Parts: sequence; C-alpha cells; structure tokens
Amino acid sequence: MSIRGKHFLWLGDFTSEELELILKKAKELKLRYYAGEKIIPLLKGKTLVMIFQKPSTRTRISFEVAMKQLGGFTISLNWYEMQLGRGETVADTARTLSRYVDGIVARVYNHKDLEEMAKHSNVPVINGLSDLFHPVQAISDMFTILEKKGRLQGLKLVFLGDGGNNVAQSLLIASTKLGLNITIASPVKYRPRQEVIKIAEEAAQESGAEIVFEEVPEKAVENADIIYTDVWVSIGQEKEAKERVKDLSKYQVNVSLVKKAKKDVIFMHCLPAHRGQEVTDEVIDGPWSIVWDQAENRLHVQKAILSLLL
Ligand code: CP
Ligand code: NVA
Repeated sequence: MSIRGKHFLWLGDFTSEELELILKKAKELKLRYYAGEKIIPLLKGKTLVMIFQKPSTRTRISFEVAMKQLGGFTISLNWYEMQLGRGETVADTARTLSRYVDGIVARVYNHKDLEEMAKHSNVPVINGLSDLFHPVQAISDMFTILEKKGRLQGLKLVFLGDGGNNVAQSLLIASTKLGLNITIASPVKYRPRQEVIKIAEEAAQESGAEIVFEEVPEKAVENADIIYTDVWVSIGQEKEAKERVKDLSKYQVNVSLVKKAKKDVIFMHCLPAHRGQEVTDEVIDGPWSIVWDQAENRLHVQKAILSLLL
C-alpha cells in the first residue's frame, strides 16, 4: 500500500487502511526520535513550501521542524507577500511551485482554493487548515488517542461546541473511518454540513462506529472516554463572535461537566484555546488534560505524512 504522490486535502480521500498506515509510520518515527534518532533523512534534499493565509503556531512550526528532521528544506510564506496577494491565480501559483518544490502545505480561508491548487499541482498539496477541514490535526489526534488508550475501536469521543467547524468535521470523518464512536454536542445549527455527515455515515457503516448528535451537554458526555473542544469563534468568523459565544456558552467544558464522563476520561483541544470560554483553566490545566502531548504529536504525525506522501 502506498499513498505517495496523493494530495492530503481531507480524510475522505483516504481508506481506513491508508490512515492506519500513517498512524503506524508515526509510531515508528516517534519511537526512533525518542531512541535518539533526531534526524531521519527520508526526505533528504527535498523542499516543502508552506503558504499561510491565516495565522498559525503549531501547524507551521511542526511542519517546519518535521521537514528538517527528515533531512529536507522548508520555505514558509504569507499568502499576501506572494503574488497571490496581488491577484495571481491559485492555478498559476500551483503550476509555478510544482517546478520548484516537492510538496505544498497551504492554510486557506476557502477550501475551494486548495482543490484548485491540487488540480494544477504536480506535487502533493497538504491542507494545513481550511474553512471546512483540518485533516492533519484530526489524524494526529487519532494517534494521540491510540497512544493514550491503546485502541480506537469502540471508544466514545464527545466533541462539544461548534460541531460545524473544520476540526469537528475532520474528527467526524477520522473517527468513523477508524471505528471510534463520536458524539457531537452542539445546537442544531452548529452541526456538521450534511455532505460531511453523509460521508461519515458511509464510513461508519463499514467500521461499525456510531454517530450521535446531542443538544444536551451533560447527556452527551455520559460514558465519554474523550472530551474534545475547540474555539467557538474560528479564524475568519470574528464578526459572528457575539452570537456564537451566546449560542455555545452552555457547551463550555468545565469540571462539573468532565466529572459526568468516565473516571479515566481525557480532555483534548487542538489549540489555541480561548480559556474561560470553551474550556476553563481547571480543565485544560487539570489531570484530565493531555493537550501538550496532543500538540507534540503533530510533529511526529506530520513526519509520517510527509515521508509517505513526498
Ligand atoms: N491546532 C493548530 O492547528 O494550531 P495552529 O493554528 O497554531 O497551527
Ligand atoms: N477551528 C479553529 C482551529 C484552529 C487550529 C480555527 O479554524 O480557527
């Protein structure tokens, strides 16, 4: 099985076996890293360009470090300092970059821009977050859950808050492909898009995963193995901030909510967190939280993705 040369725009393009291959490679690379192999030159001499239309800390830095630890080079650019910012088309940019580099990571507002980039690129395009999906985050989160719980199949993950955002939609696909039961706790209007639910339902039929939508947060977290949340206001939604905070406030992850889940529940957040909104300090800094291990694993999983695609 090989995923070499494929674009990584969303997890719907990958079979569960291909996702498992990434998880296996990440485990191997993480073990080797901790055994002292800081540099594993699988991508010696290759170059990755990264284009950011939005801010980033974890994605940008973990990809940069990952590429360097694989023996490669990186170039990180802001979308607006490229000719893209002056109106050069995404297609022409992709055609040009394909002549210089071995892979492209892009973080964009509009997922369609990634599809356009992929259509005109001869090298893999990797989604570093779009309005619709954050696939590198979700696959990394599956790795973290596997590491902490020893399995994915049959566990219950509860996502609380904006169920329609990029992270929630990616977790929905990742979970259902890999057999993890997922509950999305949100108001009805913050549920994932119908097209995404449809793909997740198809995946769930194959894997046996269960999908539940629940409006009552206390009910949602009953028996949860993992509680996950993300910001209520994603990048680009600042104008809706007031309404979103009002609509989602009862989905805050606080100690009283966490105590309604399983005793050994773990708390996850893709970060950055808006402390005091979607999660309280007591939870994110408390014994349930694994957010720093989760952030670290982005590095190991991205090394796996890069080494397999490039
Ligand atoms: N979780 C995540 O993607 O973080 P950044 O926005 O800092 O890259
Ligand atoms: N949903 C958040 C994720 C940030 C990593 C956003 O898009 O801003």
